[in-house]
Amino acid sequence: MQASDIAARDRLIVALDLAGIEQAEAIVARLGDAVTFYKIGYQLAYAGGLPLIRKLADQGKKVFLDLKLHDIGNTVERGVESIAKLGAAFLTVHAYPQTMKAAVQARAGTDLKILAVTVLTSYDDGDLHAAGYRLGVADLVDARARQAQALGVDGLVCSPEEAAALRKLVGRQMFLVTPGIRPAGAAKGDQKRIMTPARAIAAGADYLVVGRPVLEAADPKAAADAIVAEITPRLVA
Ligand code: C5P
Repeated sequence: MQASDIAARDRLIVALDLAGIEQAEAIVARLGDAVTFYKIGYQLAYAGGLPLIRKLADQGKKVFLDLKLHDIGNTVERGVESIAKLGAAFLTVHAYPQTMKAAVQARAGTDLKILAVTVLTSYDDGDLHAAGYRLGVADLVDARARQAQALGVDGLVCSPEEAAALRKLVGRQMFLVTPGIRPAGAAKGDQKRIMTPARAIAAGADYLVVGRPVLEAADPKAAADAIVAEITPRLVA
């Protein structure tokens, strides 16, 4: 399927950043048909959340497992083989060549898609230098996106501000998944570089990851519906 064929509703990924499976199942039940795609990250995965992947898949939902793997190639490969059996649709790894190569190899023949995280958005040039890197953020994102594409990685996680440049770089061949989304009027929380859902889609994002603006809304289903309604006109071009 081409990224451009994805229905508006299926582009919204709600981040289940919650302390346990009961809270997650409660919000999933509340959201009902309004949401078709969920993200499970460190907090829920390590609090017994992995069995939720199969439960959601059985309800026809897709799951993005945000574990940001990075280890020696053999360990990544074995880990991804195990993860591919859990039923998730997307898995994140850090964009190191050995790691990406091993993950792509291990997901061959399965439905799992590998997303690479180029540079964590909490890093600026100074943080990269402190960690021993010569390149600044922009150059490292560019270099890693090129490596990811050459290695057959399926998609990239990026800030909405990077989406337009990365779309130009990788064409339609890779999915772009962007967190840092805030509908107009929503609280920013700790997100600094934010964009509205419509602007992120216009910039080239295929999927939007949204947590608190949906989870903490007085009416989460209405909040999800509003995001879908906001991006729908951007897709009929
Ligand atoms: O609540 P909020 O909408 O800010 O949640 C965004 C989700 O996307 C969280 O699960 C967070 O871990 C993730 N994320 C992010 N910024 C990044 C990468 C991932 O907010 N740069």
